[in-house]
Formats: sequence, structure tokens, C-alpha cells
Amino acid sequence: MSILVLGGAGYVGSHAVYQLIDQGSEVVVIDNLQSGHRGAVHPKANFYEGDIRSREFMRSVFEKENIEAILHFAANSLVGESMTEPLKYYDNNVFGTQIVLEMMKEFNVKYIIFSSTAAVYGEQKVVPIKEDAATLPTNTYGETKLTMEKMIAWCEKAFDLKYVSLRYFNVAAARSDGQIGEDHNPETHLIPVILEAALGKRPAITVFGQDYDTPDGTCIRDYIHVEDLIEAHLLALAFLQNGGESNVFNLGSSQGFSVKEIIETAKEVTGIDIPVQLGERRSGDPSTLIASSEKARSVLGWNPKRTSIHQIISDAWNWHQHHPNGYER
Ligand code: UFG
Repeated sequence: MSILVLGGAGYVGSHAVYQLIDQGSEVVVIDNLQSGHRGAVHPKANFYEGDIRSREFMRSVFEKENIEAILHFAANSLVGESMTEPLKYYDNNVFGTQIVLEMMKEFNVKYIIFSSTAAVYGEQKVVPIKEDAATLPTNTYGETKLTMEKMIAWCEKAFDLKYVSLRYFNVAAARSDGQIGEDHNPETHLIPVILEAALGKRPAITVFGQDYDTPDGTCIRDYIHVEDLIEAHLLALAFLQNGGESNVFNLGSSQGFSVKEIIETAKEVTGIDIPVQLGERRSGDPSTLIASSEKARSVLGWNPKRTSIHQIISDAWNWHQHHPNGYER
């Protein structure tokens, strides 16, 4: 039996494939390489290039492979783009997930681990954020992820399927052995953008807003090491395989760092006096996002090990230094 990883050539998906193969699983990868990289796919995975929205393509893979469970990372995930191209997000994210669920029904696949996001919560008054907080997304990206979560939950009631939805906070870093890492085009995430400025690929890092209601005026986020994040996926899969009930979990380190603190730590890690410029707020940014990950710890037995922000930035830097042009470019 194999584990099917949808979006297994992307940043988070590729790390999942590596860790599944490390633990001895057979892995099948589907990715349309729209934002993923062929070079990020583990050589031992069975790779199919294609789109989850194509029933014919998906059926051909499910007919050939003996799929036991699915890890679903295949989605568009840029908040800004989702506001200008909402239908792209409904099509790829929501319609794509409909096809995945159709295949699960047709081929009797029982388990799905779904890559969701803290963006389903929107702006919250109470932090750390717990899973029972109201879901009030402030952008199309978060709205489509919430719709995908709900679609999976309704299907669970209708047919024999169990799911775990994992709501990620700010995923960062790279595999500690340096084999794979983060390569987005365009890159918009804080840590890789700072490291690109350290490498001289950008003139400076722009701090978006200094007048937030936080101690130093810049936004606070909860950064989680991608390897710890994937550990939680493996635990969630084992939880379902051992008879656990469908559930939703937050994944973060439960610690907040401001944009300025991240820049200072990156200067220490790289030993480079990274140029900084001050800019306007970026629209749609909540001031503080910190997860309560108590539920994942107590129910799944998750124990994140790489919570030092220094280590998170150092593992990201290791990848960026050795792959200044990412995978292929
Ligand atoms: N930031 C800067 N300058 C930059 C880039 C980012 O100051 O060049 C700031 C942002 O304004 C924000 C913080 O750094 O305050 C983190 O920004 P990221 O873009 O790295 O991450 P976000 O918190 O915006 O987004 C993350 C995920 C999304 C998810 C969202 C949930 O990447 O997928 O959290 O709110 F939707």
C-alpha cells in the first residue's frame, strides 16, 4: 500500500515525501509543477506529473497504484493573489479537492491528511488561537481552505472516510540535511525574503508597517520548522490508521516573534548586516498570530523539537546559501 502525496513537489509537500520515505513508506507523488519543482521530488517516490482537477488523469493513477491514504498539499496559497484572482483559488483549491474526494469514494481510500491554514481564523482578539475559535477568513485563500475543510467533513458524514485538517501558522526552514528547501517564485514569505536580501538578490528587506499594536510596532507571527510540521502529519496519519476520529489541529510553535526580531536573528545567523527599509503596512495582515498547539500535543503526542528561531533561520540559510538560484533556475 502507498501514501499518495498531492503537491509533493512543493515546499511543504516535498518535505513530507522525504520524511515518509525516511520512515519506510511507499510514496506516490502527484504534482502539476505549476509551483512545485521536479528537483524537489524524492528519487524513490513514484512521480506522476498532472493536475488534480483532471478526473481522467487522477483515475489513471488510482487504477495503477494501491493507495491507502492521501496527504493533500496541492493548492494555491498566495494571500495577495487570492484577492485579485479569487476564481483561480476556487478552481484549483475547491474544485481540485472535489475531484480528490470523488477518487477517494470511487477507490475506497479511507484516510486524508489535509493541509489547512491559520488564515481560516482571520483577525482574532484572543491569542494564542485555539481550534474552537471562530473561523472568519479575511481573504479568498483562507476562505477556500475553510471550504475545502468543510467539504471533507461533509463527505466524512456521507461515506467511509476519516480526515485530519492541520491549520499551519508560519512554516519556515528547510530539511536539516540541506537536501531540499523553500523555493517560491515569486517569494513573499518573510524569512526567505530576508535571506535573499542577505545574498544580495534584493536590495533590502522592507518591513511592512511599524505602527501595529505590538511591543516594537511590527507584526508578530508564530514560526514553525517544516520538519516539525511534517512530524505532526505522520502522527496524524498514524492516529487515523489506529482508529482515531476525524479532527482539526493547529500547528505552530506557540511562540511569537516580531518582524524586527526575525531580521535581527537573521543578521546574527548570517553574519551579514542585511539592509532594512521601512515600508507601509501590507493589506490584510493581522497584527499578531500565535497558535495554541496544545491539542496536537495532547491528542497526537506531537512534540516539536526545532522550536529555536535561531535554528529555524539557520536551516533556511543553509539551503539558501547552497541553492542561491533555487532548484532549476
Ligand atoms: N513581511 C515583511 N516584509 C516582507 C514580507 C513579510 O515585513 O517582505 C511581514 C508581513 O507583513 C507579516 C510577516 O512578515 O507581518 C510574515 O509574513 P509572511 O508573508 O511570511 O507570512 P504571513 O503571516 O502573511 O502568511 C502566513 C502564510 C499564509 C497564511 C497566513 C495566515 O504564509 O499562507 O500566514 O495568516 F495564510
